[in-house]
Amino acid sequence: MKGVILCGGLGTRLRPITYSIPKQLIPISNRPIIYYILDSLVKAKVNEIGIVINDNEDFFKEVLKGYEDKEIKFKFIQQSQPLGLADAVSVSEDFVKDEDFIVVIGDNYYELDLENLISDFYDTSSNCSILLHEVDEPYNYGIAEVKEGQILDVEEKPRNPKTNLAITGIYIFDKNIFKACKEIGPSWRGEYEITDGIKWLLNNSYKVTYNISNSLWMDLGTYNELLHVNQHLLSKVNPNNKGLIDEKSKIVGSISIGDNSKIFNSIIRGPAIIGSNTIIENSYIGPYTSIMNNVKIIDSQIENSIVLDKCSILKISNIIDSSIIERNSTIVSNNSYRKANTFILGKDSNLILY
Ligand code: G1P
Repeated sequence: MKGVILCGGLGTRLRPITYSIPKQLIPISNRPIIYYILDSLVKAKVNEIGIVINDNEDFFKEVLKGYEDKEIKFKFIQQSQPLGLADAVSVSEDFVKDEDFIVVIGDNYYELDLENLISDFYDTSSNCSILLHEVDEPYNYGIAEVKEGQILDVEEKPRNPKTNLAITGIYIFDKNIFKACKEIGPSWRGEYEITDGIKWLLNNSYKVTYNISNSLWMDLGTYNELLHVNQHLLSKVNPNNKGLIDEKSKIVGSISIGDNSKIFNSIIRGPAIIGSNTIIENSYIGPYTSIMNNVKIIDSQIENSIVLDKCSILKISNIIDSSIIERNSTIVSNNSYRKANTFILGKDSNLILY
């Protein structure tokens, strides 16, 4: 079975971060979101994988080079515009050919068991199988009505949902989905919805089955959701120190520190992860903080945040909390008597001062 990861879309709710990094490549607990999806696919023995993208091919290639399992064969598939999930599935037809394939939305975090879904798909001779999960706000998702192992109906973001069983964004299809995607029109939001493709299969007597999962699954569409999954992953971090910690520093809880990082006269309270070649000096790093590589944090305090490569945080004595700081950013205070703020912010920045 082949795999297809859908990595199109504009990531508007995560701007300005997504102006410079596709959301599927944002690191949480220092690993790009897409790596966690690859983990699940590799575990389910899917290792020929198409990545559907709108642009940024070089960025994706570079990041995927860092994925630990070198056996995977990647194929990049261009979707010329972000026209929806059904369009993204359609453009993967040349890659998939006549095979069955599993589709995963690239900007969700899943701890779901794909092996069972795949084996049930074959055991029930389905044309399509989808993974469902109970949710509190069903009107935000594609929703399924089910009976005795079969899907009766599906609806994309219904005003009056008939169930709270959300479509998680993990689907297994046979080649009939390509026929379905050619038959549907755009939805009210101007997108070709894969949910409408599945509805077409149902209306044309194809067999659509499902599994229900209760493992963790989160759409990573907002900063809060990113920080939440970061917290969840850090709570499982294994203590590991490949760096240098001087005797004036105090380390409490589970901390992972990468190669050649140096901690001087600082308090690090885990769970936290620090990448390689990073320097922490005279600072406090609080719980649920992920700090990537080549970062400098000096005379500063930070907790529950994500700091990406090559950032510098200097002399920030108020705690930086619940923040996401994109690569190469500098935050510095000059500690003068005059209390003023100077901001150089990108488009759609979001600065909150307490
Ligand atoms: C998409 C699908 C929806 C599914 C959701 C899962 O929605 O259209 O059916 O429930 O992903 O995250 P979107 O994120 O495009 O609003």
